Amino acid sequence: MSDPANVPLPVVVLISGRGSNLQAIINCVHEGSLPVEIRAVISNRPEAAGLRLAGAAGIHTEVIDHKEYSDRAAFDRALQRCIDRHAPRLVILAGFMRILTPAFVEHYRGRMLNIHPSLLPDFPGLDTHRRVLEAGVAEHGASVHFVTADTDGGPVIAQARVPVEPGDTPESLAARVLEQEHRLYPLAILWYALGRIREDAGGCALFDGTPLSAPVDMAGIEELPC
Ligand code: GRF
Repeated sequence: MSDPANVPLPVVVLISGRGSNLQAIINCVHEGSLPVEIRAVISNRPEAAGLRLAGAAGIHTEVIDHKEYSDRAAFDRALQRCIDRHAPRLVILAGFMRILTPAFVEHYRGRMLNIHPSLLPDFPGLDTHRRVLEAGVAEHGASVHFVTADTDGGPVIAQARVPVEPGDTPESLAARVLEQEHRLYPLAILWYALGRIREDAGGCALFDGTPLSAPVDMAGIEELPC
């Protein structure tokens, strides 16, 4: 996806709530270290706080309220129409809390990323921080992956790890992971914008053209200055 004309990669961000990952992305764009143009932020919830963050940054926002659609497929079709009006080359899920239909996922195959608060393939699904504490594991973290029809099951690109500390609560652990999410997601998006990561036809994540045998570990990777 390298762009000879050096034009920023057009993206659309989908949210459902708080929008802290969206804000981290916006900060990197404003700071000049992430060459993307956020053409729209779309929420399935009218009350999502992230819509205000986008508005404050001067980004176009839209709401496609899932409650106004009779079924999942109808909602996804409306969402797809809305996204495609902005002609993004990448769709960024940033706390978008919807199960997606296979047709929708297929339409954006290889050009839709998600961030998930666990070290996938461990702990897919909801409530990961509580489940991690209950399982008694020593390490937790966040993953960025290509989206496939298998929820939280697409090829993982990069991960950031954090220790689970004695006395952690789901909230303290979530805060430690979220701090890493804000470093991890802009970097993975930068790699996509530069054409360094892609998904091949076999559903494998490639980094600089080579299949990843394991996700890139953020430890030791130079961070974006934002
Ligand atoms: C993050 O923990 C992200 O990993 C998950 O949903 C949460 C969204 O948080 N998919 P925010 O809306 O970006 O603050």
